[in-house]
Amino acid sequence: MTDQPSTTDPRQSARSWPDVPGLLYGGDYNPEQWPEEVWAEDARLMQEAGVNVVSLAIFSWALLEPREGTYEWGWLDRVVEVLHGAGIAIDMATATASPPPWFSRAHPESLPVTEDGTRLWWGSRQAYCPSSTSYREAASRLAGAVAERYAAHPAVRMWHINNEYGCHVAHCYCDASAAAFRTWLQARYGDLDALNTAWGTAFWSQRYGDWEEVIPPRASPTWRNPTQQLDWWRFSSDALLELYRAERDAVRAHSDLPITTNFMASRFKPLDYLAWGREVDLVSNDHYVIGEDPAPEVELALSADLTRGLARQAPWLLMENSTSAVNWQPRNLAKTPGQLRRHALSHVARGADGIMFFQWRASRAGAEKYHSGMLPHGGTDTKLWREVVALGAELAGLAEVTGTPVAASVGLLWDYESWWAVELDSHPSQDVTYLAAVRQVYEALWRKGVTVDFVHPEEDLGGYDLLLAPSLYLLTDAGAQALDAHVRTGGCLVVGPFSGIVDENDHIRLGGYPGALREVLGVRVEEFFPFAAGVQHALSEGGSGRTWSELLHLDGAQAVRTWADGPLPGTPAVTRHRHGDGTAWYVATTLDDASLGGVLDDALHEAGVAPAAPVPAGVEVVRRGDRLFVLNHTGEPVTVAGTTVDGGGAAVVQGG
Ligand code: GLA
Repeated sequence: MTDQPSTTDPRQSARSWPDVPGLLYGGDYNPEQWPEEVWAEDARLMQEAGVNVVSLAIFSWALLEPREGTYEWGWLDRVVEVLHGAGIAIDMATATASPPPWFSRAHPESLPVTEDGTRLWWGSRQAYCPSSTSYREAASRLAGAVAERYAAHPAVRMWHINNEYGCHVAHCYCDASAAAFRTWLQARYGDLDALNTAWGTAFWSQRYGDWEEVIPPRASPTWRNPTQQLDWWRFSSDALLELYRAERDAVRAHSDLPITTNFMASRFKPLDYLAWGREVDLVSNDHYVIGEDPAPEVELALSADLTRGLARQAPWLLMENSTSAVNWQPRNLAKTPGQLRRHALSHVARGADGIMFFQWRASRAGAEKYHSGMLPHGGTDTKLWREVVALGAELAGLAEVTGTPVAASVGLLWDYESWWAVELDSHPSQDVTYLAAVRQVYEALWRKGVTVDFVHPEEDLGGYDLLLAPSLYLLTDAGAQALDAHVRTGGCLVVGPFSGIVDENDHIRLGGYPGALREVLGVRVEEFFPFAAGVQHALSEGGSGRTWSELLHLDGAQAVRTWADGPLPGTPAVTRHRHGDGTAWYVATTLDDASLGGVLDDALHEAGVAPAAPVPAGVEVVRRGDRLFVLNHTGEPVTVAGTTVDGGGAAVVQGG
C-alpha cells in the first residue's frame, strides 16, 4: 500500500458480521511494541495457531499522529500488508483509545476530573473527559482518517471503535461535563419545574431556580440527591455513547463494513449496554475471569449469556479474554489445565462466533508485561502455546456452529437503571446489591443445567416460560404491566426482594411495597426488616434467609416458606400467587443456596422447563443448534448424554 489514500469506492453492502469464514480466532495485535523484523514471525506463528483475525492499532494514536494533523501511515501500511500476505483478516481500530501526551498538553481542559475536583494527568491511558469537545473532534478526525485510508484494503473486514469506553473514566465532573449534563437534563425535562419535581428538590432546600445552579453530583457534605445521581449515571452512559456515535459516523462515511466497540459485560456497571447494543453492527465483549472467584466458570457463563442478551440473541464476538493470568487482580492466577479450552467453548456454546484474546504477543515492557498472551514470553516451546494452537484447530472444526441459536426458555430480567438505582446510598441495607442477587439465581440455574437469556422487562418476553427478576428495584409502569401480562397469560415469574419499589424517578410507589408488583405477587408489605451483617435466620420448612426480611401480608398469595425466628417469626418469607393463568413467586429474603434451589425447582417444574441435560455437580451443559456442549469443571470423569468427558475436559456432542 502507498501513502496515498485509495480512490476506489470502499462501500459494500451493510453487514452485521465480518467476512471471515468459520469462527473468528485471534487477538489484539500490537506490532508497534516490537521491532519490524518480528512481524513476519508473528504472521507465520498466527498461521500455525489458526488465527484468522487480529485487532490492530487500538493504542496507536501517538505513532499514527505524532503531531496534530500529521499522519504517519507507513508502519501501519506495512503491518497491514504482512497480515494480508498471511491471509489474516483485520479488525481495524480507530486508534483513539488513548490520546497521546501532545494532545493532553495542548488541550489540558480535556483531562478528566474526579468528583472531589482532582484533575487526572496523562501517563497511563484513557485520560480524557467524555464531554470534551477537543477530544471528540480529534478522535473523530483520526477515526475518519483511518477509515478513509484502509476502507478499501481487502484485509480489513471490520472496524473497532475506540476501546472499552468508560473503563477507567466513566464519569467526569469537570465544568464541561457540568454544561453537557445541563443540556442533557434540559432535553429530558424541558424546564426546571419538571426537574425539581423529578428530583424531589423540596427536600433539604435543594430547589433549583436557575439552570446554572445544576451541577454533577460532586463531592458534597452528605448524601447527594438520589435522582440527581441516577440521572448522572444515565447522562454519563449517554455522553460516552455520543462519543462512540461520533467516531462510528466518521468511519461510516467511508465504509459499510461492520462496526463494533468492545463491551465489558457482566461486571461493568456504568454503561447501559442494552442501549449501546442497538448502536453497534455486532456486539463484542471482553471478559476476564476473576481468578479467586470460587466458580469463575459461572461468572463467565453469566457474562456470555448477558452478552447474547445485549446482542438480542444474535451471534456475538468475544473480543478479548486471557490465555492465562492477567496483571490487574491482587493475585493473578494462571489458568489451570483445560481452563483455557473450557472457557473458550463456554463462550461459543453461549453464542460467541469468535474467540479473541488480549493479546497476541505478551508485552516485554509497559504496565501489562505480566499479562498472558497467545504467544508467551517463553516462546513456542511452552504449554500455553501448545494450548493456543490446539484451541485454534478445535475451533476451526466447529465452523458449523456459527450462526446457530442458543436454546433457552428462561428469561432473566436485566436492567441497568435498576442496577444504578438499587445501589444508591442511604438505603435500608447496603447488603442488597444487584450483581450478588443476579449471580445467586443465575448460579442456581447453571448448576441445574438450565440456560437463561438476559432480557429487559420492556422487551419481547413472549418466548419465555419462566421469568426471573432477582433484583428489579426500579420498575416503570410499562415494565410492571409486561410482567403482569406474562403471568396472566400463563407464564411463571420469580421475584427477588426489594423489587418494584420505585418508579423511573426513584420515587417510592406508595400504598405498600412492592408497589409495582403488589398485584401480580398478591402480597402487601408494610415495612422492611433488614438483618445485621452476617446474621441469618431459620425458616420453618428448613433452610434460612439472610440480609433481609419484610413484614408481609398475603393478599391472594399463599405462604410457601415462613420465618421460624428473627424479627418476624410466623410471617411469610416466600410466597406463591396464582394470577390469571400463571403463577408469581415472591422470595422476600436472600435464601440459602439449597432453599433457593428448591424454590427454583418448583418454579421450573411449574413452567415446564427442563435442563439442557441432567448434570452432576460442577458440569456445565448448553445446547446450541444441534450440539450439546458439555464442560467438565471437576477433576473427575463424568458421563453426560451418553458421552464420557475427562476431568477438566470438554465435549461437543452432535445431537446430544
Ligand atoms: C482490557 C483492555 C486491554 C487490556 C486488557 C488486560 O480488556 O481492553 O487493552 O488492558 O484489559 O486484561
